[in-house]
Amino acid sequence: MSLLLNTLNIIKVMAKFFLRSRYACLALLCSFPFLAASAGGRIHIIPEPVSVTEKPGDFILRSGATLVVEGDSLGGTAAWFTEQVQTLTGLQLRQGNGGKQAIILDIVHRDKSGIHPNGYSLSVTPSGIRITAADPAGIFYGLQTLLQMIPTTQPAAIPCADITDYPRFAWRGLMLDVSRHFFTKQEVERYIDDMVRYKYNTLHLHLSDDEGWRIEIKSLPQLTQHGAWRVARTGRWGEFLPALGDEAASAGGFYTQDDMREIIRYAQQRYVTILPEIDIPAHSLALISSYPNLSCTQLPYPVNPGARPPVRQDNALCIGNDSVYMVLDKIFTELAALFPSEYIHIGGDEAYKGFWATCPKCQRRMADEHLGNVEELQSYFVKRVEKMLTAKGKKLIGWDEILEGGLAPEATVMSWRGMAGGIAAARMGHAVVMTPWDYCYLDLYQGESTVEPPTYGMCRLKDSYTYDPVPDSVDERLILGGQGNLWTESVPNFRQVEYMTWPRGLALAEVYWSPKSARNWDSFTDRIGFEFQRMDGAGIKYARSAYNVILTPKRSGDHELVVSMSTEVTGLDIYYTFDNTNPDSFYPKYDGTPVKFPLGATQLNVITYRNGHPIGQQVNIKKDELAKRVDEGRHVY
Ligand code: ACM
Ligand code: ZN
Repeated sequence: MSLLLNTLNIIKVMAKFFLRSRYACLALLCSFPFLAASAGGRIHIIPEPVSVTEKPGDFILRSGATLVVEGDSLGGTAAWFTEQVQTLTGLQLRQGNGGKQAIILDIVHRDKSGIHPNGYSLSVTPSGIRITAADPAGIFYGLQTLLQMIPTTQPAAIPCADITDYPRFAWRGLMLDVSRHFFTKQEVERYIDDMVRYKYNTLHLHLSDDEGWRIEIKSLPQLTQHGAWRVARTGRWGEFLPALGDEAASAGGFYTQDDMREIIRYAQQRYVTILPEIDIPAHSLALISSYPNLSCTQLPYPVNPGARPPVRQDNALCIGNDSVYMVLDKIFTELAALFPSEYIHIGGDEAYKGFWATCPKCQRRMADEHLGNVEELQSYFVKRVEKMLTAKGKKLIGWDEILEGGLAPEATVMSWRGMAGGIAAARMGHAVVMTPWDYCYLDLYQGESTVEPPTYGMCRLKDSYTYDPVPDSVDERLILGGQGNLWTESVPNFRQVEYMTWPRGLALAEVYWSPKSARNWDSFTDRIGFEFQRMDGAGIKYARSAYNVILTPKRSGDHELVVSMSTEVTGLDIYYTFDNTNPDSFYPKYDGTPVKFPLGATQLNVITYRNGHPIGQQVNIKKDELAKRVDEGRHVY
């Protein structure tokens, strides 16, 4: 991703301008009230269920209430739920066969019940709770909904209701880049705990890149003895110094195959598939650093610590070199045996093709295979890797660059450079997972950048919430679903992983699970308020950036700087001052008329309030910075 940082910034500014009109239409469409039980009532579920009917009365949950499993066995789900309730409320459920006060989990035959795959119905009455589903995953999702209905305060009065629910898409994913920064097995498991609260079912692990190789391959020990380690640096990514002299590579880490088996099992118990990604042919410096004969230049590059090297490093595999395919066969043989997922992700993005164009081996391959250009050379590579995966019983998925030069016959495309790649692939009859960067990239800024940890670009909560994974004129059945992707160049610790994921991950959960007709921004922003309280209780970090002011500077006719102010969340008041003090609700209130800097003023300080209480962070911004944004065409951040 880092290769595109600057380009993306420019594209983003242009795209924003174009997209505004589209947002207006979407906002209009989304503003019709759905069955918005969650919005004004007592029930606040994310993602919004298909239908919620609130009823009078409550079920009072007490210690000793029985949890009854009818129909098929649920594995560890009943024990998992008992533990969740205990953590949430301190109440102790008892597993049994009935009793006065019971929560019944019932798996019924799908044909008889008409329940959708992975769907459930949940009925809460004063005398008991019943969750009915046609499969264990459906019960699990019903329990997640129930957990969001249990108050954390005593008595645990659960509002009576009938809920029917099922997912819109089968693929509801998050991607975690564990290469740019390594996250431990426990942290990955914690991420799984976080994501299943919102009915995500796929965790895509970006296991290799220029900055580290993260999975043990027993037949290639250098990958983890060498490729998993780089020199330790702290500060701002991209500005780090390369290795100094013979400095030891002490930062990084990897998962042993036993670790990964534990993660996979942990995920399976929570109905999550782990999708492994090995990013090839480019983004492969950790692999090339471990086995330097695999690149065209064959130079001994170090694993990149997050520095921007002065000369281009050859981070792409040599497509003309047969050793590359021998090594890949070893890697994919071990991965296919380790990961139960239907797919293996082979990356395929952002390959610099310049070294291929001059490498004798690559040129030879092009001549032998009658390939007209380097795009076709890349396509040859992807097709060859697809055959390798097929032979091992796996399907290939890759970033949308795998379309260049011709798509492999059975490939599934993960569309990230917007939706165009996904549309092109679907038109050819290929399956698609949508992850367009401007809606789904969780590493981008999520609000006013002066009060955020440094990163790049912009993807606001509303951007994520208002996107739809099915473009017009595309067969919906080919869109398997979508993901939120967290690249971790600027994410050095797990608290920041959570901060960047939530609440945009809540918005995307609703995009991928709920019916499109249920999308309602005001209802959603009400519900995140309740969810933030639950996240506080669970110790999950999240961003409140959507409450911050959005500043839009412009030049007026007389070339003076004027600033418009707005917020994503509706119903907030904005107070501001130019006198360098800290504004509160006694200060000037923004009334929708763009403001000018008074003569001599150099700084604007702004804060947002809701119902008389501060809610956003105070933003202090220099006039010069706002002027720079106008002059550079960066209107919104
Ligand atoms: C990507 O962001 N390079 C897939
Ligand atoms: Zn080559």
